[in-house]
Amino acid sequence: MANKKVKVGIVGLGRQGYQHAENLALRVPNCELIAVCSVVEKEVKEVQEKWGIPYGYADYDEMLENRELEAIFIASPSGFHYEQIEKALEAGFHVFSEKPLGLYLEEAEKVEKAVSRHPDKVFMLGFMRRYDRSYADAKRMIDSGEIGEPVLIRCYGLDPAGKLDSFLKFARDNYSGGLFLDMAIHDLDLARWYLQAEPEEVWAIGGSYARPEFAELGDAETGAAMVRFSGNRIGIFVAGRNCAHGYHIETEIIGTNGTLRIGTVPERNQVMIFNETGAVKKCTGGFLERFEQSYLSEAEEFINCILENRKPSVNVRDGVESTRLGYACKKSFETGKLVRVKS
Ligand code: NAI
Repeated sequence: MANKKVKVGIVGLGRQGYQHAENLALRVPNCELIAVCSVVEKEVKEVQEKWGIPYGYADYDEMLENRELEAIFIASPSGFHYEQIEKALEAGFHVFSEKPLGLYLEEAEKVEKAVSRHPDKVFMLGFMRRYDRSYADAKRMIDSGEIGEPVLIRCYGLDPAGKLDSFLKFARDNYSGGLFLDMAIHDLDLARWYLQAEPEEVWAIGGSYARPEFAELGDAETGAAMVRFSGNRIGIFVAGRNCAHGYHIETEIIGTNGTLRIGTVPERNQVMIFNETGAVKKCTGGFLERFEQSYLSEAEEFINCILENRKPSVNVRDGVESTRLGYACKKSFETGKLVRVKS
């Protein structure tokens, strides 16, 4: 067992997939990345040459025929997830999938059924924040009662304004689920995790402010949702795509005996420059930089679960329930009404 390496194949070699592939090829112990797949053949060749990956595919189904493989990592666009997860499980592989499980609640529920048909396989969803050292530490503190009963969670998920143009270009041709499903989903998951409560009703509002194109797409540039969770717990979620100072992910959990804050100043590092504008700290520029450690830790956990024959703490139900809440937020934003979350 000590020398056993899990043989992995990855589909999707874009922003997220490349990062995962690099971790799997170079940094995750007991793992061997032996196959890569993307519809863009140039990406496949580049990665194969760079890290000496023996198998390259432009077709996902062909990769699944490779019987040397034991596990599949999915980092393709969200619309492909549910089908690719199902196919990989049916073909007998352990599966890690980037969030979300699917673009529609029905797709997420299909994945849940597929996972339950294969109880001997490890299935893990990429809610990487749970593996971030600060978020994991906050969870330990809440569970050990350090802030008393957690009663309110406030989350900011803000993408840098510098990425607005590329996002709008992407969103014109691709359905991403919209602001609440695509962006706030990590926060919705954290709320359930920290509060240990399920959402009951939601009121969400939002709009287009700097860029009217969001309204034309039926989406919001900046939005907010207020959620009542079971036990009268409160969730406040702010999501936006026009954050001038960079990538700002901040979470506050208020308890009956204290408060935790994570990422209040989204600082890049310890450096501060004192100049004519004041005392300035640079902010993180994007998710790959902020969550570098989490992406590696979640991949390590996936491989360890396979080797140790156990299941990760983040499961398919977490994916379904966060999607359900994301859809309720979307519905409330679109109708202007308070929406009951039905499970
Ligand atoms: P991307 O557009 O940069 O990359 C997509 C990749 O999939 C490309 O290599 C593309 O060629 C390949 N591809 C597209 N269709 C394919 C198919 N049918 N078969 C095989 N390969 C195919 O997308 P990005 O930003 O890397 O996002 C990928 C996924 O990761 C999305 O589902 C997104 O929601 C998720 N994501 C998660 C983040 C997190 O923090 N957990 C952050 C960013 C993205």
